This record gives sequence, structure tokens and C-alpha cells, in this order.
Amino acid sequence: MTHPTAPTAAQADAFATDVYGGLTQSPQKTLPSKYLYDAVGSALFEVITHLPEYGLTRADERLIKAHAQDVLIRLGPVSTLVELGSGSGRKTRWVLEACALRQPCTYYPIEISATALAHCSRELSDIVGVKVLGIEREYLPGLQEVAAMRQGESPMLVLFLGSTIGNFARPDAQRFLCEVRKLMRPGDALLLGTDLVKPLQPLIKAYDDALGVTAAFNLNLLVRINHDLGANFDISQFQHEARFNPETSAIEMHIRSRIRQSVDIPGAGLTIGFEAGETIWTEISRKYLAPDVLAMSAQAGFTSADQWIDEDWPFAETLLVAA
Ligand code: AVI
Repeated sequence: MTHPTAPTAAQADAFATDVYGGLTQSPQKTLPSKYLYDAVGSALFEVITHLPEYGLTRADERLIKAHAQDVLIRLGPVSTLVELGSGSGRKTRWVLEACALRQPCTYYPIEISATALAHCSRELSDIVGVKVLGIEREYLPGLQEVAAMRQGESPMLVLFLGSTIGNFARPDAQRFLCEVRKLMRPGDALLLGTDLVKPLQPLIKAYDDALGVTAAFNLNLLVRINHDLGANFDISQFQHEARFNPETSAIEMHIRSRIRQSVDIPGAGLTIGFEAGETIWTEISRKYLAPDVLAMSAQAGFTSADQWIDEDWPFAETLLVAA
């Protein structure tokens, strides 16, 4: 599979700047996790959600399927639904159907990938009573746009599912929730999915699966740098690593250099050396305790209306109402 879509000049510039900034960081080289999701990375992530080791997405979907009606009973008729990220549509369908049973509604998936938005619209446009209007923006500017054009008095429901909030460092997650709250009116609601702390063995396996799909997802970042920035990473000389950091309660994905080597990245104006064993930190996936989710949300100005927890794969779905 190739990387079929050429980036725009502005996107290529931002990528080059972030690659330069991240790989020249010392002592820990980093790359922002958002760059994992090009066409190949997004397809690999979709496969990850079906892997036997990765229970997160199935737990999220089980909870949403079981409690979509409870959410709508709690909120009453909702005419505006917003999703931060468009997901695959598999989980969102339950909420949209429950919503449209009560009154027609508009669903705004917010997503930077046009391909993902198109996929989501195709998946969900068959639901009677639901109008799908994709917004191709970053989450907060997108939510701001929806907040400015919403009509009527009924509450807005914002969905932030799949534990994407876990991919933010703790202070960034807190700040993000505060920003989301500022764009909501009192009585609006947020349905927040968070993966919870669980035993180490299944957790590590979820991020280092037997088939090597997560490894390919992670290493694809180097393939993307080769493609977009003309770099010469030899992928066979790097390996995927997933580790748990107990201090931050987070899985960290790294790319480890197998040998001492140097790589040219002409598009970022950079030649960079790696020691044998040195890593690039590519993703954080924080695992919460259920009460922490409530505390963080309260600090952002939400009251908790309900919290449902999956027993098979500890995961929390929390319904929060803007105070
Ligand atoms: C999107 N996000 C919630 C996933 C996670 O579990 O943190 C991304 C992922 N990274 C590796 N596997 C899945």
C-alpha cells in the first residue's frame, strides 16, 4: 500500500517543522502522535480496533449500545450532536438512532481527515431523521463553529469516545476539557469514553499484538517521513516498543533504533544520529481511574450525570453535564 494523498504545502511545512522540532529534542526524541494517522495509519488503526488483544473499542461500543437510550432519557430531545473525531461510525450509530427516535437531529463529526469524514458520512447517512454535516477542522475550532451556528434551545450533545482523551498528557487533557466546556451552554452534555487502569499483561499486549499490526502502525510514521520529506529511514533497523509508565499511568509507544545510525531528512533540513537502543517517543495512551475522570471533569465545570463501566475490559463511559 502506498501513501496516495499528497500533502498540501502548508501541511508539509507543519509536518517538516514538527519532525525537525521533535527529532532534535534532547534527551528524548519525540514525534506528535497525530501524524500516525495518514491513509495507511488510519487503515491500520481500524484493523487494531478488531484485534483480539485490543479490547478498548469493543468495550466502548458495548457501553454505548447498552446505554444510548439512558443518555437520551437523561437529556431529553437533542437536536445537535457533535463528535470530536469521526470514528468509524460503528459506535456512534447507537446514539444517533436513539436521538432520532425522539426528534430529527443534525450530527456534526469534526475531523481533520477529509477521507475519514467521507467514510463516516457514507456509514451514517442512512439513519432516518439524522442529517450528517462533516466539519473538516481541528476539534476546538470545529466545535466553536458548530456552537456558533446551532439553533433552538434543546441541549447539544458532544461525543468524545474511544479514549482519545488518553492520548493527551494529563495537564493537556484538563485544559482541553476546560476549552470544550467554554464552548457549551449550561445543560449541554459531554459523553466521554476513557480507558481504565488494568493488569499489565493484557495492557501491553493491546499495544504490542501478536500479528504486529500496532508495530506497523507505529513504524509507518517513519515510512511517512520517508515519503513526505524524502528521508532515508531503513525501517528494518528500527523496532516498535510499548511500555507502561506507572508514574503517568500511561502506555508509551516508542520506535527503537536497533543500531547506531544516521538518517537524512532533506524535507526537514535535517541529518539526525541515533545511538543503538535510542528511541523516538510517538504516543502516550493514559489509563484513568474512574473517580479521576469525575474529578478532572468537575474541575472543568461539568457535573456527572452517570458513569458506566465495562466489566470485561475496564473502560468508563461518563455522561457529563455542563454546570
Ligand atoms: C486512538 N487511541 C485512543 C488509541 C489508543 O489506544 O490510545 C491509539 C492507539 N495506539 C496504539 N493502538 C491504538
